Amino acid sequence: MINLMLTSCTTETPSGAGAPGSSAQVSSAHVAAELYDGLGARQATISPKFLYDALGSKLFEAICELPEYYPTRTEAGIFERHAGEIAHACGVGTTLIDLGAGNCAKAAALFPLLRPAQYVAVDISTDFVSEALARLRLRFPHIEMQALGLDFSSGLALPDSVRRERRLFFYPGSSLGNFTPPEARSFLTRLRKGCGPDGALLIGIDLAKDKAVLDAAYDDALGVTAAFNLNVLRHVNRLLGSDFDIPAWRHVGFYNEAAGRVEMHLEAKRAQRVRWPGGGRDFAAGERIHTENSYKYRQADAIGLLEQSGFEATRVWTDPHCPFAVIHAQAIA
Ligand code: TRP
Repeated sequence: MINLMLTSCTTETPSGAGAPGSSAQVSSAHVAAELYDGLGARQATISPKFLYDALGSKLFEAICELPEYYPTRTEAGIFERHAGEIAHACGVGTTLIDLGAGNCAKAAALFPLLRPAQYVAVDISTDFVSEALARLRLRFPHIEMQALGLDFSSGLALPDSVRRERRLFFYPGSSLGNFTPPEARSFLTRLRKGCGPDGALLIGIDLAKDKAVLDAAYDDALGVTAAFNLNVLRHVNRLLGSDFDIPAWRHVGFYNEAAGRVEMHLEAKRAQRVRWPGGGRDFAAGERIHTENSYKYRQADAIGLLEQSGFEATRVWTDPHCPFAVIHAQAIA
């Protein structure tokens, strides 16, 4: 597993340690190698996890406030309307493991009803999640909490400090859609192994819907999504010492109906060469770097995916107006 402490120490740290902008920051050969591989591929890619440096995490918070970006609001509505039933399905006293916790707000909203025995906030952006947890501890001093800065997409080795009993993985925000379906299956299978026989999963999955709604959600009028996507180039420049010229790129986000996914790309506005220490690449005008997919499932397919991964969907809550599912799934043998 790659521990992306690197990501956090290259962002603006209050101590000033690890000056941003220095390529000497690349202390993890894995991270650099992954970026080089993606940028060198015929169809260039940058892994979506690099979207979430400190600024990226803030821009994503802003996306969640946009009128066009329905997933956060829709899911929050479901959690709010069905909080009692959801808490009942999960039970009190769980070991709540929040995957991609960010500002921890979604889990915190459930604390009063869910009353977890332990809360474990996992996020790739270590500083961001640690700060959020520090604030949360003041609000819920009786809940044992810990922050873990790790890239759980590549592995899920939890430290011994995480309780083994009644693990409840919390995976909201439809992030499962950011894996391809086979990747989603192996990720869920890993969660199934990680939660043990008495474990469960509480997951939010966005469902297929109107193309116009999806196109707008991933390419908003204010350009916040564009800024979020473009920020990945800033982050890569800092990690690799590359010289991506950000104004020379544009955000492209659209629903590819045939593939059942929203695709996010960065498109070169003009032909250009991007350099990094020891290499570089020419991009033609119109050439794209793929940054993320967001698969939109049909409800039956989402439940099928869970079953193939060792989980049984015990409850499904949806929104009457906007297709989105919150699912409680129990580990099966
Ligand atoms: N996980 C989010 C989603 O799929 C991430 C996201 C929203 C995103 N807008 C984006 C990623 C734009 C890249 C570009 O909904």
